[in-house]
Amino acid sequence: LLKRSFSTTPSMHIIKNITVIGGGLMGSGVAQVAAQTGHNVTLVDLNPEILKKTEESIANSLSRVSKKLYKDKPEEGEKFVRDTKGRMKIMTDANQSVKDADLVIEAIVENMEVKHKLFKGLDEAAPQKTIFVSNTSSLSIGEIASCTKRRDRFGGMHFFNPVPVMKLLEIIKTPETSEETYKELMACGKALGKVCISCKDTPGFVVNRLLVPYLSEAMHLLDRGDASPQDIDTAMKLGAGYPMGPIELADFVGHDTTLAILDSWHKKYPEIQSFKPSNVLRKLVEEKKLGRKTGEGFYKYT
Ligand code: CAA
Ligand code: NAD
Repeated sequence: LLKRSFSTTPSMHIIKNITVIGGGLMGSGVAQVAAQTGHNVTLVDLNPEILKKTEESIANSLSRVSKKLYKDKPEEGEKFVRDTKGRMKIMTDANQSVKDADLVIEAIVENMEVKHKLFKGLDEAAPQKTIFVSNTSSLSIGEIASCTKRRDRFGGMHFFNPVPVMKLLEIIKTPETSEETYKELMACGKALGKVCISCKDTPGFVVNRLLVPYLSEAMHLLDRGDASPQDIDTAMKLGAGYPMGPIELADFVGHDTTLAILDSWHKKYPEIQSFKPSNVLRKLVEEKKLGRKTGEGFYKYT
């Protein structure tokens, strides 16, 4: 977890400075893991209030990680937390944040127009060498990259929530991503302590193409009144061995994100019934009950 791997080919530069844009659920976890693994990290969010919350959630998560790693050595644990925090900078100006970046990881709202607006500015502001990736759950990486002049240095890095715990990282290569960029992303994923798999630029890559229809079907059960949220969750935990049931997992992912994914897929593939957003999901988003991150979704969190 703590050691960086330098097993890159000689032509590749080593990714040391990472800028993470978006300080929400995912960006905070990605920034934390990058700093934990020895990278210099700049974390950006438009909203200074969110950045305050982000600092708190990173501090909480780091203390859990350090307790696990340094169980019987609290002093080393404290040093680990101090050093990790010392490698992190926080700011609100995205264009300024990429001036020295080797890699920019975007984790902002799941909306193509907003991502395009961000990347157009970053493309002007960042040095030639900088590689861009998106952590999008569902959008086409090639389409996001199309607004930049660095499509060969653009790919996908799809992390999983909670990032400090989930071991998988999906690395996405578009037809225009260069082989060198792809190799650098694979090496960087390994240096971040993750197990990397290769994915084509297809909707939902591997995990979400399977997971999102499953979450959606669970919410359609609720629309039809077939079972209660608690019974659906108990069913999948005890009957299928999942660590969380689909209703609590949907609360964990965030309903705005899941609705954005389903809306865009349903528009493209109207014949696939599980892509049609359920009424319960739409209602929760209208009521701003977005799940754990807002304190309430299908369940309440205190
Ligand atoms: N930071 C650091 N450590 C954390 C943590 C966090 N945010 N959350 C949990 N942990 C650690 C805990 O400290 C604990 O460590 P120990 O085993 O050493 O005690 C361990 O993880 C387990 O945590 P808990 O005991 O609190 O709870 P749990 O056993 O129920 O596990 C969970 C929590 C890991 C979240 C588990 O419920 C789980 O795996 N849930 C499914 C998560 C999942 O499917 N994620 C993918 C979502 S989809 C996605 O991300 C893609 C997308 O695009 C939408
Ligand atoms: P979130 O709502 O928790 O966080 C998004 C953050 O981006 C917010 O803090 C917002 O203030 C900030 N933001 C919006 N526009 C910005 C801009 N132009 N510049 C800087 N900051 C901006 O969302 P999230 O769950 O962290 O998701 C972020 C991305 O990661 C999305 O593309 C989502 O699909 C993807 N993703 C989400 C999950 C998940 O489980 N939630 C898992 C993997 C990938």
